[in-house]
Amino acid sequence: MEIQKARYLKSAERVDQSPDHPYPEICFIGRSNVGKSSLINALTRHPKLAKTSSTPGKTRLLNFFIINDGQWCLVDLPGYGYAKVSQAEREAWDRRMQEFLVQRSYLRLIVVLVDGRHQPLDKDLDMIYWLAEQALPFIVVLTKADKLSKMAANKSLKTYKEELKEMNIETEVLLTSAGTRQGMMELQSVIDSFIAEHPNP
Ligand code: GTP
Ligand code: MG
Repeated sequence: MEIQKARYLKSAERVDQSPDHPYPEICFIGRSNVGKSSLINALTRHPKLAKTSSTPGKTRLLNFFIINDGQWCLVDLPGYGYAKVSQAEREAWDRRMQEFLVQRSYLRLIVVLVDGRHQPLDKDLDMIYWLAEQALPFIVVLTKADKLSKMAANKSLKTYKEELKEMNIETEVLLTSAGTRQGMMELQSVIDSFIAEHPNP
């Protein structure tokens, strides 16, 4: 169902501060600056819902948003692999994120964002491999398609699909742009199907 309403619920610094609610959760992850917050704003049609920035590392907290008065809950997570913090801090963040993904029982789908302009990066493939290994439900979303020609964007999509096939991972790969809203209907319908398949008890 198309998003009619989206409202900010809460931000958490730690996983154990995450809100207790009965709604199915969908979270967005990806490297810093890949366009998570922008995609969330495009999907919800709320230009200022999640804070965006051209400076990487903008999102430092786990941010929770309630969609359609409780149909589901969207979570904007901090980017992984942010280069400008110390390695120890980065590792601590990555650990916290992994903890969230494994422990959060409300989680129905993890949307993994990757930059459509680049070849698959080790950091992204490592994350995808880890998610598959944990048997967590996820899809891969290529961002910033508007920055590529149609041909280059489709090539990037194909490269990712082939890479996943080689890894023996079966999942959806979508091409999107927050700028033009390309792929938003597709993304919405994938989210809807995951919520419908796994309703909360
Ligand atoms: P962190 O919060 O730092 O992890 O970053 P993020 O992944 O939330 O990225 P954010 O949405 O803040 O976007 C980063 C930069 O990319 C901003 O300058 C956005 O304007 C730009 N951007 C995001 N999505 C798109 C897109 O679809 N097209 C174009 N052209 N630029 C985009
Ligand atoms: Mg962000």
